[in-house]
Parts: sequence; structure tokens; C-alpha cells
Amino acid sequence: MKPPEQDSGSLLKLLTYERTLEHPQLASALQQALALPEEDFVPFYDRAKELCLREKGRYVQLRAIIEFSNCCRRQCRYCGIRADNTIISRFRMRNAEILETAAAAAEAGYRTVILQSAEDPWFTADRLAEIIEGVAALGVDVTLSVGERTAEEYRVWKEAGAKRYLLKYETSDSALYRSLHACGTLEQRIDCLRELGKLGYEVGGGFMIGLPGQTLATLADDILLLGRIGCSMAGIGPFVPSPYTPLKDAATGSPQLTRRVLSLARILYPRLALPATTALSVIAPEVRNAAFEAGADVVMKTVTPNRYRQYYAIYPAPGVGTAEIAADRKNLEEIIRSLDRIPV
Ligand code: 5AD
Repeated sequence: MKPPEQDSGSLLKLLTYERTLEHPQLASALQQALALPEEDFVPFYDRAKELCLREKGRYVQLRAIIEFSNCCRRQCRYCGIRADNTIISRFRMRNAEILETAAAAAEAGYRTVILQSAEDPWFTADRLAEIIEGVAALGVDVTLSVGERTAEEYRVWKEAGAKRYLLKYETSDSALYRSLHACGTLEQRIDCLRELGKLGYEVGGGFMIGLPGQTLATLADDILLLGRIGCSMAGIGPFVPSPYTPLKDAATGSPQLTRRVLSLARILYPRLALPATTALSVIAPEVRNAAFEAGADVVMKTVTPNRYRQYYAIYPAPGVGTAEIAADRKNLEEIIRSLDRIPV
């Protein structure tokens, strides 16, 4: 039976005060909220900001990302560094170079370094553990984002000092997942996330907005899956078509819809770490900034050496090859302060 249509006020009330994941109308309420006219959605942005300020204060976490390898074994149909793309050059940073970069990020004031790469088995458990130990010794938190690996590898890296792990599930729809990923299933992805949680990592999931074939019902389930997995963090960004991929001609995800989904995630999970994603700033810098008014409390900045950035082209990102680490951070701090928030 289809639940009755509800107005903006009662939807917001349900999502704020009756948000147990078992609530039978939660998915439908999320879907209806996503479909509201923009003026009716404004109270959701406001509630998300209020909850963000209540839980996180005015602080915005700045986090540095080092993209240390683009050598990938997978074939994700949306991704510019998929294995089949023979056009781009492949690189792997050396240990010493990764550590130098991390040291520069720590020096510039970053408290978290995210070590991110394509799914690259060259980095064995031991090789990556050595890097993690080196970066952790700088006194920063280490977040890993290196894809699907074995439980044993995840265990070794936790022991080596990694604290958090980002692994987006991209969509909660298993058929859509299958159509995008020849190399794996949604179930395997979720198993990895659960394993990471059991090992004591703070776990980051997440998904893309605007994947071809996705509906508002999918997005409602995408938001609910964050809670079902028990994610502490969520990377939610628009799909951006990437040249040399099978989805090169698909439409770009909507920045406005992305901002709505961010707000709903904040309302359902007030304590979530919720970045305003890089993909959002690439397609709509002003909406990226507006995301901080709508519940986002984290921002990630690439500190990858300039000579590699053009090769870490998951999607086209003009202008990411910018100044140097400290100057980039200063610029970002200025933006955060101009939004009346405190960069940390
Ligand atoms: N558009 C937006 N995000 C993308 N990602 C990969 N390809 C794209 C794209 N074309 C995101 C995925 C992945 C992360 C590394 O980058 O969500 O998890």
C-alpha cells in the first residue's frame, strides 16, 4: 500500500523525531522530501545546519588526501582510472615521496591524512603498513581509502595505525551496482564495510548522486544504508561523466539534489562526518560552499604532488593542479572563515 502524501512540515517532523531505521515510512518520507519544490525544502537545510552546529559546533574539519597510485585492477564503468583506460599514464608514488608529502601536510596544519589509491595490489599488506606507520608517526590521524582487500590486510593496516577507512558503496541498488561494476557485487562491498567496522575502524560509506538509472527511491535507500552499515562518515557526491569511460555521455549529477541528500543524511544521522565532496566543488563551487549551510562539516583537499594530479583523473577536475600545500590550505581556511565557520 502506498503511504499518503505528506506536507513538508510533517515529513521534517517524521525524519527528525521518528528516525529509527525500522520506521516503515522512513524510505517513503525521504523520497517525498527529495521531490519537494525548492521552497518547501528550505526548512530541511535549516534543520540540517542546526543539527550540524549542535553536534559539531562551528568547526569544519580540513583533511589532506594523498592519491598515491592510479594503477587499478577494477573496471568501474564511471571511473576515469579504470583498468581498461589505456589512454592515461599510470603512476605509483615511492614511500619516501608519500612520507614527504604527508609531512608537508602535517606541517601546513592538517590533522588527518587520507591515503587514497586505485585498487592496486602492488601495495601489499606489508608495503602499505610501512607507509601507514611512517605517516602515523607524524602525529596525524591516518585514513585509508584503497578499495576492497582481505580481512587480514585490513587487520594489518589497523595494527599499523590506520584509524578510519573510506569505501563508498556507490549505490544501494544491487542491480544498478552490478551494471556498473563488472568486478564485484554490492554484497562483497558491504561485507568489506562490516569487516572494517568489526576491526574497529571508523567506517566511511557513501554513494553518487545522478548515476544513470538511479531514482529518488534509490537515493532514499542509499541514505538508509549508511545507518544499516553503521557508517561514521559518508562521502556523497554528484556523478561526473569522465572521458574514456563507458559513461562518458551520461548526464552530470545535480548539485542541488546532492545538497538535499547531504541535508537528509545530516538530519537522520546528526553525528555523521559529512564532507562537502570534491566532485561537488568541481561541478558547482558555490553549491560546495552552500553545503556547509546544509549540514556538511568536513572538506578534503588534495595534497598530491602536482606532477601526478592530472593522472589521478577519476573525473575531469579542471584547476586542481593549484599552488602548494600550505597556500592551498590557507585559501581553503579563508573560504571556511568567510562562511562563519572555524577551520580545524
Ligand atoms: N564521478 C563522480 N565520482 C566518481 N567516483 C569515481 N568516478 C566518479 C565519477 N565519474 C568516486 C566514486 C569512488 C571514488 C573514488 O570516486 O564514488 O568511490
